[in-house]
Amino acid sequence: MKISGVPYRSVWVDPGDGWSVRIFDQTKLPWSLDILRLTDRDQAAHAIRSMQTRGAPLIGAVAAYGLCLALRADASSAAMERDAALLAETRPTAINLKWALDRMLGRLRPLGASGRVDAAYAEAAAIADEDSAQNEAIGRHGLPLIQEKAAKGHVNVLTHCNAGWLATVDWGTALAPIYMAHDLGIDIHVWVDETRPRNQGAALTAWELGSHGVKHTVIADNAGGHLMQHGMVDLVIVGTDRVTRTGDVANKIGTYLKALAARDNDVPFWVALPSTTIDWTVADGVREIPIEERAASEVTDITGRMADGTIATVRVAAAGSPGANPAFDVTPARLVTGLIAERGRCDASAEGLLGLFPEHRS
Ligand code: MRU
Repeated sequence: MKISGVPYRSVWVDPGDGWSVRIFDQTKLPWSLDILRLTDRDQAAHAIRSMQTRGAPLIGAVAAYGLCLALRADASSAAMERDAALLAETRPTAINLKWALDRMLGRLRPLGASGRVDAAYAEAAAIADEDSAQNEAIGRHGLPLIQEKAAKGHVNVLTHCNAGWLATVDWGTALAPIYMAHDLGIDIHVWVDETRPRNQGAALTAWELGSHGVKHTVIADNAGGHLMQHGMVDLVIVGTDRVTRTGDVANKIGTYLKALAARDNDVPFWVALPSTTIDWTVADGVREIPIEERAASEVTDITGRMADGTIATVRVAAAGSPGANPAFDVTPARLVTGLIAERGRCDASAEGLLGLFPEHRS
């Protein structure tokens, strides 16, 4: 996607040296657009853990490049297994992280140490290119859902968290059809859940949509049900961090409540995902998907820009009150209208997913 007319991806190899890895520091958005240079395994692991880089598909791609950086230091088999395991532990819920590292190891294990670095960069680049292409396809498959609702002249979409291009290598998942609809001249407006506690909606989705010229309004997370009751939401589209083979959907905390409100108000609730987000080993999302528990300070405190331009973190909870911070929840498949993937749309069910991805029938 473009920033001020310049095309960017969310992760890339520095063209100057040909090996260091560049990402945006998403903890600084929307206040400043800082580009980080990652030069070793620990910097890549820190970037993922601290959410300088985030979003399920993107952390998979950054982990793949993190393994490239690790191999530059030590390409032995023992070091490669150790470093891949360390990168895989940085965040527990998004399955793309494990998927990308498993794919890297599958490609690199048969090679001798001397051939690994070049092969690793080629594989990481392929993962990044494929993610971009898959998201572009998701956009095309999601677009008709928006066009159908826009037949009355305009369309209101609600989204949660950030499932835009910042969360992927390019395009985004939930936001890809929205960008395409906007670019086709459809009168589209997006309700952006602020997405407490880390405010990925207010900070990242709003910044992305604003940069692209898409009409949007930031709302408190609790406003969605009210808007749906009053006919102000035509459809919901969200991203996901892991989808079970039965169609249960893990996504940012609060997604489940949006799905409940959508069901009660007959608002379609769609989930956009590349197939790299499907965990074919898991059937029961509520019981089997690990939910990341993050620092309580993300709930008790809030960060923003002061009137004088400085960035400050202030406490919003009563002094001494503890906080709890489950970062994701699981929406059962029965509440999901359907899934939008790179091969098309399907029911959120085992049969629906196998219809799109028959190679997993075995
Ligand atoms: O904790 P985050 O910001 O990494 O969580 C991101 C989300 O929940 C996104 O909605 C999800 O990864 C889909 S991104 C295409």
